[in-house]
Amino acid sequence: MVKPSVLVTRRWPAAVEAQLAENYNAVLNTGDKPMSPAEFRQALKSYDAVLPTVTDTLNAEAMDVPGAQTKILANYGVGYSHICEPSARGLGMTVTNTPDVLSECTADIAMTLLLMVARRAGEGERELRAGNWTGWRPTHLIGTKVSGKTLGIIGYGRIGQEMARRAHHGFGMDILVYNRSPIAPDVLAKCNATQVDTVDELLPQCDFVSLHCPGGAANRHLINARRLDLMKPDAFLINTARGEVIDERALIQSLSFDMIGGAALDVFDGEPCIAQDLLQCDNLVMLPHLGSATREAREAMGFRVLDNLSDFFQGLEPRDRVI
Ligand code: DGY
Repeated sequence: MVKPSVLVTRRWPAAVEAQLAENYNAVLNTGDKPMSPAEFRQALKSYDAVLPTVTDTLNAEAMDVPGAQTKILANYGVGYSHICEPSARGLGMTVTNTPDVLSECTADIAMTLLLMVARRAGEGERELRAGNWTGWRPTHLIGTKVSGKTLGIIGYGRIGQEMARRAHHGFGMDILVYNRSPIAPDVLAKCNATQVDTVDELLPQCDFVSLHCPGGAANRHLINARRLDLMKPDAFLINTARGEVIDERALIQSLSFDMIGGAALDVFDGEPCIAQDLLQCDNLVMLPHLGSATREAREAMGFRVLDNLSDFFQGLEPRDRVI
């Protein structure tokens, strides 16, 4: 039997690449160079499956082909707002993602960021590495206590729930939730969480706000200047979701004029290009999109793609079908 042809758009963990090479007629991206829209169009005309990830902009231009050989985009990652849904539907493609296996590690990074910004860990490390530390003193780099504070979670899917679990059971935090659809009472009860009806209702009540909603057009600039103004003047904003969820211009204003306590970002609008003004904000912690960056999560994500592909090519419904 001829093996389906599969294109992997970036470097993946070695164990997963080896399995892909065994099961499929796989073309790997050993140079790990991001592909251009023209290369994507060519790929969609040539391969049975394309395996993209968050760094691949599969917009209408990149998917503008008269007909596609590709019948499945098996995405490596949970977010898929980089894939143009109407184009995928128009070309009759199935799209899958990799939920669950990265939820814990992404929540770990959100908690890391929360702690770092509250306790001024980034500032402290910068000071120490620059050779500017003059020693312990009672008033040095005073941060904010985390335990017992109120955390607002926007988007109560798997990652949001893992974040709540860490914050509530680890740090005794009170949890407020905003989610588009109602959350089952037993799910809220696990962290004694309270669901509110609007983002506007949540923001003024929280000491920390962590974003766990999907990206894409629907949530673009969900956190804008007006909503940043609704936050307490000493509250902190954490984003491990997608860069476009925050209006970065408005955030830079809020941080520069100390209108909120601080922010911590793992994702950026237009990453890896970073708005230069963000770099000037001392009350900001930044990581280079590390949410799922553990060996365990990245391998599990790859094997989840393999499961989805295997179902698809056997004529079964892949478990993680999103389109
Ligand atoms: C995802 O899965 O969407 C992440 O952002 C990539 O780690």
